[in-house]
Amino acid sequence: MNITVKKGSFADIKTQAIILAFCEGEKELHGAAFDANKKMNGLLGDVIKSGDFVGRPSEVFIVYARGAITAKRIALVGLGKRKELNLEKIRSAFAAVMQHLRGLNIKEAATIMDFDLLPDQKKRFIAAVVEGARLGLYQYTPYKTVGCDEIKEMRQLAIVADPGEYSVLVDEIKKASIITDAVCFARDLISAPANEMTPSILAEHAAVVAKRKNVRYHLLDKGKMKTLGMNALLGVASGSHQPPKLIILEYYGGKKGDAPLALVGKGLTFDSGGISLKPAEKMDEMKTDMSGGAAVIAVIRAAADLRLPVNLVGLVPATENMSGGGALKPGDILKSYSGRTIEVLNTDAEGRLILADALTYACKYKPAGIIDIATLTGACVVALGEDVIGMLGTDEKAKEEIYRAAQTTGELVWELPLWDNYSEMIKSDIADYKNSAGRMAGAITAAAFLSKFVDDLPWVHLDIAGPSWTTKGKAYIPKGASGVTVRLLLEYLQNRCKKE
Ligand code: BES
Ligand code: MN
Ligand code: ZN
Repeated sequence: MNITVKKGSFADIKTQAIILAFCEGEKELHGAAFDANKKMNGLLGDVIKSGDFVGRPSEVFIVYARGAITAKRIALVGLGKRKELNLEKIRSAFAAVMQHLRGLNIKEAATIMDFDLLPDQKKRFIAAVVEGARLGLYQYTPYKTVGCDEIKEMRQLAIVADPGEYSVLVDEIKKASIITDAVCFARDLISAPANEMTPSILAEHAAVVAKRKNVRYHLLDKGKMKTLGMNALLGVASGSHQPPKLIILEYYGGKKGDAPLALVGKGLTFDSGGISLKPAEKMDEMKTDMSGGAAVIAVIRAAADLRLPVNLVGLVPATENMSGGGALKPGDILKSYSGRTIEVLNTDAEGRLILADALTYACKYKPAGIIDIATLTGACVVALGEDVIGMLGTDEKAKEEIYRAAQTTGELVWELPLWDNYSEMIKSDIADYKNSAGRMAGAITAAAFLSKFVDDLPWVHLDIAGPSWTTKGKAYIPKGASGVTVRLLLEYLQNRCKKE
């Protein structure tokens, strides 16, 4: 759905519905609502007085304008109490009202907003409207053939602006559209079934991203991995007919010669568990085990579209984890690309194996820092719940900045400790490390394992096993793939660029 800016007065906008946002429990109407109420002969005031609509967060109420203004309907949407207003409430409210209008088979709407409701966050307010509307309307439909004519779709939202605000709005909407496009792109990659999102196909999508200015694409195939000795990645791939790929996207938007930031994303296009097979129930969800990889590709895409002044290298080790005749067996020992040996106690702890080799490869770029993003452990979901990203690592500054960025984007991040005792738990009796330390502190021992492959570079690990997928759906994250960390990392990168 497109978002545009229109100059003019809200009363003259020709549209199927004009959206007016209200704060809860306010006796006086302000701004456009005041004018609308006057034109409607007090109707809006009556609706509020009667209690039929009070402006609770994400409450929606439709009234017909019946010629009092040019728009056919007025869609009232609640923002909750003015004192409690924040960006999440705005995103959620716009998701709710847009979904409601789509349900009525409305194709286009307009809104007029008092962006000074959050005076010190005006630009973010505008972005939040775009995010709520576009992310809330996301639907994944390419495989529907029955009844697909009935799929409802919103095509346009116009934001009515004062002439003085026009250029700020255009600018912010453009940026937010790039970012939300990237989130939806990640969601598409993740939602695709594993038979149609193999490592090779994922690589093709990355190659398309690389058509952008300043983006370069490289692919390491199985032969190259063998020459380099990436036996951890190759080991995981050995049970599958699909050849593994190490996808590399470089973006040069910063100064020439500036060390890049490395983003490494887990790209398991399907994780059956391998010989340590997962239970059948919900195994289908393991097509999403490339969510970290999808996020990395999407972030590079948006960074290029936003022309961020930063150098980035994105690395996505991509493979299936299957149980074919060549598959890893519990007890196997692999010599990783770093030279360190790994005893594979559980073939379902495959993410850390492929990441080990990709992290070692990332170090060759001599990056300023490394951030990895992975649906790494069920233990992280047990510890923090389905909504929360687990954060661990050695880069105190980046962790602090990511935490702060998350408070803006509404993604929930919580740090777990990475003390030396956890490294003791991953020592193997006969190899250097073992890939599973059992049930205790599973999210942390997984991160401790990764820490062995980042040299001494500043590094942050984000475990997104919980929030990468939602079975219930949330305000502006419809059921399914969330695209989590795409907005978070872009916010973090934008803040970093501002400082420099
Ligand atoms: N991809 C899974 C982790 C996962 C679980 C992601 C649930 C999303 C939802 C990962 O490869 C895995 O299987 N981890 C094991 C590790 C264990 C064997 C040490 C786990 O968490 O059970
Ligand atoms: Mn696994
Ligand atoms: Zn996995």
